[in-house]
Amino acid sequence: MTGKKKEASLQTSATNQEQWEEILGKKGLTVVDVYQQWCGPCRAVISLLRKINNELGDELLHLATAEADSIDALEKYRGKCEPTFLFYGGGELVAVLRGANGPLLQKIIVEQLAKEKSVLEHGVDRKVVVDNDLAQAVKIDVQGAHRLEEAEIPARKSYTVAIIKPDAVAHGKANEILTKVQDAGFKILAQEERTLTEAQAREFYRHKEAEEYFQDLVQFTSSGPSRILILSHLEDTSDVVQAWLGFIGPANIEEAKREKPESLRAQYGTRTLFNAVHGSEDVDGASRELAFFFPDFGKANGTTRDAEEKPVERTLALIRPDVARENREEILTQITNSGFQVSLQRDMTLTEEQVRKFYVHRAEEDDFPTLLQTMTRGPVLALALTREDAVQQWKNMLGPPDIKKAKEEQPECIRARFSMEGDPVNQIHGSQSTEEASKEISFFFPVQQTLAVIKPDAVDQHRDGILEEIRNKGFSIKRMEEKLLSKKMAEEFYKEHRERPFFNQLVEFMCGGPSVIMVLEKENAAEEWRATMGPADPERAKAEHPESLRARFGSDLLHNSVHGSLNQEHAREEIRFLFGEPAELTDTLGSVRYTTGLFFFCG
Ligand code: TYD
Ligand code: MG
Repeated sequence: MTGKKKEASLQTSATNQEQWEEILGKKGLTVVDVYQQWCGPCRAVISLLRKINNELGDELLHLATAEADSIDALEKYRGKCEPTFLFYGGGELVAVLRGANGPLLQKIIVEQLAKEKSVLEHGVDRKVVVDNDLAQAVKIDVQGAHRLEEAEIPARKSYTVAIIKPDAVAHGKANEILTKVQDAGFKILAQEERTLTEAQAREFYRHKEAEEYFQDLVQFTSSGPSRILILSHLEDTSDVVQAWLGFIGPANIEEAKREKPESLRAQYGTRTLFNAVHGSEDVDGASRELAFFFPDFGKANGTTRDAEEKPVERTLALIRPDVARENREEILTQITNSGFQVSLQRDMTLTEEQVRKFYVHRAEEDDFPTLLQTMTRGPVLALALTREDAVQQWKNMLGPPDIKKAKEEQPECIRARFSMEGDPVNQIHGSQSTEEASKEISFFFPVQQTLAVIKPDAVDQHRDGILEEIRNKGFSIKRMEEKLLSKKMAEEFYKEHRERPFFNQLVEFMCGGPSVIMVLEKENAAEEWRATMGPADPERAKAEHPESLRARFGSDLLHNSVHGSLNQEHAREEIRFLFGEPAELTDTLGSVRYTTGLFFFCG
């Protein structure tokens, strides 16, 4: 074999048809980086692949590189400079990934390896895909979703909408559940990972508005990423809506455990609110939910066709204070109805200085003082909106910046509809370009990671309560480990307090039992987490912030249940100290950040 020996131990290299066939002949899953001779294999994922390979240590996983120029079978991949990964099970194409998207690559490897094993061990049919449309085979949208199949819209009764809820996703159970779902004969027509906003959760559960648990349900549903699935059943005769409801079991967990112990909810639910999975109630529900989550599913073409061919991107929308107060819900509804997703949302009262910083390019304009006044009258509503061609589509919806002109020329546009009597400033802002969008979004939503620890005093009794609060507050847990700190580690961790009288006690306490260490991610995470914890002394916490974690779960200043990094700098140090490296999923590849369950493309 004279194949290139680059990364020989990690990836088998194929540079001719014979080597190619040899690679495809391997039993198990083969992940092939198809590359062009002139640019070589994708370097960006090598260390990730090595890590996955070491972690999985699986004989059935094979990694390879293949040079498109010299292998006839790869003819149609020639001249494409975008990194392309082909996944083969038993020589058949089972998935395609375009782009050096580390988190997604990892996810597909794990999923496909599990599937190939069910093929080999349980004789499940292998799901083969055709990469006939090179640009569309695996459509990655902003949330890292990969549509498994772009199918025709299925007939009524032949599909249902299923959700793996935030509790199960956060506990790392999604892939396990997906395998069970497929083993049970359900076919996944589409899946998407997605964090619902509160407004979306409310809309989704609108029919439960009267229930007393409604608010909790909304909170929970929007607390972290879910997996949204469209399912059909392999035996098309069955009513998949009912089949799925049967498979997940009763909503009440006690009942599920008692009467259907093999059901998903009995296995993965912890209580009725956190019951791990959802299914459409009936055929109408399925069609409503399909439209809610996948408005374009199966639509071959439509008015948004042009936009759909453009990349998914984000833009910043600002609703200035007066209209944010008066017309908030109306505007939000119009935004979601127009195919945007609200991926971040925040009310923020801006200081004059912040407005100047945000509008630095406009500070010299004559009307800037009026703008400044309008912007500081109360909290602005800042939104990061996501869809294909978001910047332009949002600009189209806004209409002309001049309200008078807007009213004359485009009375239907948002700026014309939502203006304030007597205020010449338009009430809604949109980014001008993708570059500007990316800057503006990070102005309002800088994403951070912080270290959180459930200290030994709280691990047994209060772990669930603390984790629940973490999710309720919208943090995503990037890493979580139960760990017994050694004396040395505890000393090092609290070294800033070495000279303080309580140091020895503190160290002894911290290594007296296991802690749960976590990397939390959220916008402004360090500050947010410290606010969630409350003051170090639980007595003070009870007096000043009774809802805080230390107020609820701490017993005294030493045994105060949780730790959080002081600021960004400490967070970085502490994460490196306890996890050995910055949390994996962020900034793996520079261009893609994986945060709060969403992929953000940072232009
Ligand atoms: P500190 O860094 O001040 O608080 P925080 O945990 O909020 O960052 O102190 C570290 C830990 O030391 C604190 O969580 C509890 C313990 N401690 C004592 O036991 N006695 C004390 O007097 C203080 C100030 C802290
Ligand atoms: Mg501290």
